[in-house]
Amino acid sequence: MSGLIKSSIARKVAMALSGLFLVFFLLQHFSINFTSIFSPDLFNELSHFMGTNPIVQFALQPVLIFGVVFHFVMGFILEIKNRNARAVKYAKYNGGANASWMSRNMILSGLVILAFLGLHFYDFWVPELVHKYVEAHPEDPTRYYHELQDKFISPVRTGLYIISFVFLALHLWHGFASSFQSVGFNNKFSVAATKFAKAFAIVIPLGFIIISIVLHLSKHSH
Ligand code: HEM
Repeated sequence: MSGLIKSSIARKVAMALSGLFLVFFLLQHFSINFTSIFSPDLFNELSHFMGTNPIVQFALQPVLIFGVVFHFVMGFILEIKNRNARAVKYAKYNGGANASWMSRNMILSGLVILAFLGLHFYDFWVPELVHKYVEAHPEDPTRYYHELQDKFISPVRTGLYIISFVFLALHLWHGFASSFQSVGFNNKFSVAATKFAKAFAIVIPLGFIIISIVLHLSKHSH
């Protein structure tokens, strides 16, 4: 077993599987947030469900947190191992010749996403925990949409979110597409799968950008 954990192939597979899991999370997170721009009522209903359902709160949420931590810890280990694998550095490293900017900068785009998650937790998760467990307010199923709108009043905050989503697109562009190869998915659907992954890498972050802008503008029209 320890041999398997230590092998670089196993690490790549683990990276790909945790990444694919996070892609699923991203899709559901996007779907719920997207409702906020056309139906505040639906958004409130879904948020109330997610925020109060015990299976979501005490089973899915811990799994998600584990998935996020696992993915970034493994990412760092992979990067360090790859660097150390070549004791003597190339005299002139011309990565652009055989690897895209995206694939060579997964750590950079990953770090920007990590920083975004720090900000995002500070914006949403911390106030939510305080609301529920410290101030112990009675549950109000209509509060979520207004709280969401308030978070996007600041143009600086909205801008930081948008920049993060651009890096998310870069990260997904390489990460999602190459995850199929890492898990050994190699058949007549591989080309279609890669195209799907690259479309996803653009559409979902772009969607998050649109949500941020619409929410930012919505507060001023009241
Ligand atoms: C416009 C874009 C986004 C909006 C409006 C948004 C909004 C929210 C809201 C309302 C929550 C719920 C907090 C709570 O009550 O627990 C949340 C949680 C979260 N968001 Fe986002 N989010 C956005 C983008 C993203 C992106 C791009 C990622 C990942 C890269 C992300 C990762 C998370 C995570 C990991 C959580 C914690 C989930 C949990 O509660 O367990 N979000 N977000």
